Amino acid sequence: MMKQIQWFPGHMFKSLRQIREKIKLMDIVLILLDARLPKSSMNPELLQIIKNKPTLILFNKMDLSDESILIDWMAYYEDLGFATLKIDAQSGKNVSKIHDAAQKVLIEKIERNREKGLKDRPLRTMILGIPNVGKSTLINQLSKSSATKTGNTPGVTKAQQWIKLGNDFELLDTPGVLWPKFEDPNVGYHLAITGAIKDKILPEDDVVQFALKFLQKFYPNRLKERYGISIDLDYVEMLDTIGRQRGALLKGAEIDYQRVYSIILTDIRNKQLGGLSFDRL
Ligand code: G4P
Repeated sequence: MMKQIQWFPGHMFKSLRQIREKIKLMDIVLILLDARLPKSSMNPELLQIIKNKPTLILFNKMDLSDESILIDWMAYYEDLGFATLKIDAQSGKNVSKIHDAAQKVLIEKIERNREKGLKDRPLRTMILGIPNVGKSTLINQLSKSSATKTGNTPGVTKAQQWIKLGNDFELLDTPGVLWPKFEDPNVGYHLAITGAIKDKILPEDDVVQFALKFLQKFYPNRLKERYGISIDLDYVEMLDTIGRQRGALLKGAEIDYQRVYSIILTDIRNKQLGGLSFDRL
């Protein structure tokens, strides 16, 4: 497995270096995590870099998550000293609360400025998150327009570009891509199941096997409701049951496993098995 994902470290160190360089310019850092993966979508190295920096952690895709588990993760990060908010950037749910939450983190600084007679200004920020976590979706929601791209001309990106997001924020035009870290092989599977890393980086068969075993352990009733799978089936029996139930068959009534894999992953990603959380405290 590690062999196929060796291209990550280079990207990861480069983006962490960029973040370290730019962080001084920020009033506040917004970290976007996947609400289904409060641990796997966090790069632990980032926690070192943002130490002592005002930070708000946003748990995006709350609509797809198991909120009973998410609550505990939010408390976990709050205990570490971070402000938190769960959002759904696609529908816009709670997006309007982000500015208030950020201001709350910065209240002392803002009040000092107000006492000096300074007017509130947009907060300078960076939105950091792993690929596919919803950064562009959130940026579009915050700016209420899709015209957030500037500085694509060579040379222009060298200068510091601030993009206004509505009246509340100014975003630094540096891609906030945070590469995931794969010390724990489960993290790779969690990212693959939710579609954060591309299909084919890990063998699909392994990913689906991991997913079904996980669901069997933590969400057996959901599997039963959706596919009629009883708890004691082994992996291949589960695939066969799903394949037959969904008509994923080849000629001669053999199971079309490729289609079964895709049915399962699509169902998970589209909430057909309900809100899920893959990280456990
Ligand atoms: P990125 O910039 O961080 O790489 O992520 P991006 O905004 O492109 O979002 C990745 C996918 O996640 C998009 O779906 C987007 O619609 C979806 N998404 C973002 N936020 C949320 C959310 O809060 N809830 C849900 N359910 N989905 C969210 P896509 O399939 O790539 O494209 P689309 O056709 O759905 O837009």
